[in-house]
Amino acid sequence: MSVIVSPSLLSADFLHLSKDIEMVNRSQADWFHLDIMDGVFVPNISYGLPVVSQIKKMATKPLDVHLMIVQPERYVEAFHKAGADILTVHYEACTHLHRTIQQIKAQGMKAGVSLNPHTPVSLLEDIIKDIDVVLLMSVNPGFGGQSFIEQTINKVDKLKKLIIESNSHTLIEIDGGVNFETGKRLVNAGADALVAGSFVFNATDPEANIKGLKEL
Ligand code: DX5
Ligand code: ZN
Repeated sequence: MSVIVSPSLLSADFLHLSKDIEMVNRSQADWFHLDIMDGVFVPNISYGLPVVSQIKKMATKPLDVHLMIVQPERYVEAFHKAGADILTVHYEACTHLHRTIQQIKAQGMKAGVSLNPHTPVSLLEDIIKDIDVVLLMSVNPGFGGQSFIEQTINKVDKLKKLIIESNSHTLIEIDGGVNFETGKRLVNAGADALVAGSFVFNATDPEANIKGLKEL
């Protein structure tokens, strides 16, 4: 099966967002990656619920919503209503992660957990079976266009082992600094899904880059 590609709209042209959504709709991409930042958990503010609802009206593929916000449990229902299909919270932002994951699933969404670059995958040992997607950050969250942190390759390897040993079906998704070169190595290490922001939207031919990632 080919790798899942989730273009991050953070690098899209917000003055012509419908144009970029249409491009992703007709491309070979699988999901839309939406980055929600609160200026507290990460040192940047992106966009919020009203924008997600508008995107939902046009998008023909699942919305993969990445919450970089503190106390994400307060917004699970709201993001479900706005149209999220996969809702990912940060391990570092959840005091009661197990409860938050159950909350997400109770709304009928897939539950994702994201790890910052410094957070070891072993911390997910007791909860891996409950998680649909683990989103490994391969940059420090907050901004698009940063360079890939090499240690992520080892983390994919460790996470893959943990998933196999626990006999779970969790997908491994990687976010940050993905291009053909890093993408290839991530897929070889066991990644199931790749997020790509600047590599898609800053390209002269975004659809071709999505296609190239699908073929890795
Ligand atoms: C960063 C976001 C990413 C970002 C990736 O905090 O989570 O999704 O858009 O951007 P690139 O692909 O440019 O590194
Ligand atoms: Zn993201």
